[in-house]
Amino acid sequence: KARTPAAFVCRECGAAHRKWAGRCDACGAWNAIEEETALSAAGPASRSLGGARGRVLELSALSGTEPDPPRLAVGVEELDRVLGGGLVPASAILVGGDPGIGKSTLLLQAAAAFARRGAKTIYVTGEEASAQVRMRAARLGLAEAPVLLAAETNLRDVLTTLEAERPAVAIVDSIQTMWADNVDSAPGSVSQVRAAAHELTSFAKRRGVSVIMVGHVTKDGQIAGPRVVEHMVDTVLYFEGERGHQFRILRAVKNRFGPASEIGVFEMTGKGLKQVLNPSALFLSDRETTAPGSAVFAGLEGTRPVLVEFQALVAPAQPGSARRAVVGWDSSRLAMLLAVLEARCGVSLAQHDVYLNVAGGLRVSEPAADLAVAAALLGAVRGAAAPADAVVFGEISLSGALRPAPQPDLRLREAEKLGFRTALTPSQVKLAAKSGMTVRRFDDLAQFVGQVFAE
Ligand code: TYD
Ligand code: MG
Repeated sequence: KARTPAAFVCRECGAAHRKWAGRCDACGAWNAIEEETALSAAGPASRSLGGARGRVLELSALSGTEPDPPRLAVGVEELDRVLGGGLVPASAILVGGDPGIGKSTLLLQAAAAFARRGAKTIYVTGEEASAQVRMRAARLGLAEAPVLLAAETNLRDVLTTLEAERPAVAIVDSIQTMWADNVDSAPGSVSQVRAAAHELTSFAKRRGVSVIMVGHVTKDGQIAGPRVVEHMVDTVLYFEGERGHQFRILRAVKNRFGPASEIGVFEMTGKGLKQVLNPSALFLSDRETTAPGSAVFAGLEGTRPVLVEFQALVAPAQPGSARRAVVGWDSSRLAMLLAVLEARCGVSLAQHDVYLNVAGGLRVSEPAADLAVAAALLGAVRGAAAPADAVVFGEISLSGALRPAPQPDLRLREAEKLGFRTALTPSQVKLAAKSGMTVRRFDDLAQFVGQVFAE
């Protein structure tokens, strides 16, 4: 019998491997590769001939005849935006996140919101007993919500329950606790998690049910992470947050039915998650406007402008062991920026420890944050703050040149709304509308240093 080519798979990232190895080449995880168990003896190859003929349609025959099915809005604005305007019927959604970040809380609240809008909603829990879920619901003030509860882990039972109940929305918490009895491996293994996600996704398509699956991000251990099923579902959302911060960010990393990289912001309170409709105001609420080493970045998350504060601290280092510590930004991007500052502007931090932090716990990944980080670093070095009423944005290239960022008007409007009066930007930024802000433009980083942080 011919061997299937990819019989091994990484639990962390889902990469397929031809043979076992101690370390995954794709993501670098150790001890995460496991053998994948086939679903049944008859592999896909043996079935490719002699199968039933599928229905084929002309693409043009579809156009215009079937209107887009109406989306099911949750009524929670921050969640609806991340979904691209509500839940698409018959879609499969994965919600990933660290254990304890608040996934079950979010989805129980969403389930109640769906149910209260008249959509039949089932919450399947494999993690907690029904009584525990009910206690949580009571704490969230949702005890009276018409949500159906099922405590099951056997996939066959779950599917039978869903088949019998035919809900509009089914939430499965979590995908790692589900087990398919036709897959010969332990619950939580890659094979099990994939089989469960596959079955639930095809159920969603077949029966027109929206299925939301929870996936724990696992740090080592024997359990497969949510990345191994990302490719199967329509929408992938991650729920993020720094431990110790009450803010939580729901981020779309893949969405077949809407823009990816959209975010929703929530605050974890004693009564569950509360949506934060104006995150800029919240991220800037504790700002000390005169502190050196602070700069406000006028950023964009998905379609929404978000202002955040970058804070930098620079201190003399032990000779030969300068430290770089970054929270909320990419550390290799910081290394690049430090090199550009040294090579193009003569500002050397080689003998200094550098600490960089995004206030409020947001992770910033936009290249346009470069100039704001540079402003925070320069402020820390020179003991000065960037002008307190200014926001900063612009990408920095290796040559030190500044590149414009998309949607400058949107960024400036948000800044103006929050009381900022000045924007420090690359010269090529083109504004579509007149802005009430003073826009100071710079060609390159050296000019920016010379004019804003003159010694
Ligand atoms: P949970 O939703 O169980 O996390 P997950 O499903 O992602 O593992 O949330 C767990 C944390 O949230 C827990 O530390 C307690 C906290 N929490 C609150 O602060 N307020 C609340 O109302 C609830 C229900 C939980
Ligand atoms: Mg949970």
